[in-house]
Amino acid sequence: MKEKILQLLTQQEGIVSGEQLSSVLGVSRVSVWKHIRGLQDAGYPIESHPKGYRLASSHDALFAWEFPDRTPNYHYEPETSSTMDVARKLAREGCPHFTVVAAERQTRGRGRLQRTWYSTDGGLYFTVVLRPQLPPMLSFKVNFCASFVLARLLRHMFDVPACVKWPNDILVGDRKICGMLSEMEAETDVVSFVNIGIGLNVNNAPEADEPRAVSLKSLVGRDVSRKDLLGKFLEAFEDHLKNRMQDDIIESWKTYTSTLGRPVRIVTVHETSEGTAVDVDETGALVLQLPDGSLKKIVYGDCFYRTGE
Ligand code: BTN
Repeated sequence: MKEKILQLLTQQEGIVSGEQLSSVLGVSRVSVWKHIRGLQDAGYPIESHPKGYRLASSHDALFAWEFPDRTPNYHYEPETSSTMDVARKLAREGCPHFTVVAAERQTRGRGRLQRTWYSTDGGLYFTVVLRPQLPPMLSFKVNFCASFVLARLLRHMFDVPACVKWPNDILVGDRKICGMLSEMEAETDVVSFVNIGIGLNVNNAPEADEPRAVSLKSLVGRDVSRKDLLGKFLEAFEDHLKNRMQDDIIESWKTYTSTLGRPVRIVTVHETSEGTAVDVDETGALVLQLPDGSLKKIVYGDCFYRTGE
């Protein structure tokens, strides 16, 4: 019922009367009112007017019916703590491979190494639950696959020089446009799920919180359809996972990276290392050449480019 109400409000511009809703839906006006209250409490921007109801700013909402081929494995949250929390719960409850959780707003969005991910209005925030038939040691492949596919899509759709930064950020001209976070659970020798969370600066203005961030809107000079972008990414990512997993994803990823050959600082939970990024090996680890010439492999961490060196 709630979904039908939202659909009717989306289809009709302006105010829809309670009477109209109750006659189309075949329920009383009191019942319509109760459902509307429920939707408002859940965070849907429905305005109540003397003459009826109006859905504010629905033009680029990521409602489930915008992705009809993906229901019922697509979940939309107007507001949630983090799509990672919702996805983890669904994954533990046994949801299918390629379940998607998208949110309009996150109150506790998180990034790698326990950072906050500021989730301001207009950004794209979602998590995909994957159940790859892989041993835990190879789960890194899906992360590299996600960043490669998204960088390629940004290049094709918007003609922006998107590059991948180890491990899975996407930059345009050294400014961060996208961050990825992955969480995995495994049972002995097989992955139970890997959740890939993606935060993409689309029509938001991230610079206030992160001076070295950039949005697609500021790059292309117009509003961008998040719906279209999300739909195309999910299609390309799903296709790659289904048909291209035999490809050497690290080699593909390297064709888009701006990390190799750069002086970098790598921060992990235990230590900070500086050197030159010389390679990403077949396990996804970064190979760092230290000032004394020795090589050090780093499996997981955050990479900062040292400029002016
Ligand atoms: C990073 O660059 O540190 C990773 C950022 C990941 C942000 C996304 S937004 C959707 C999903 N939900 C979260 O709380 N985090 C990820």
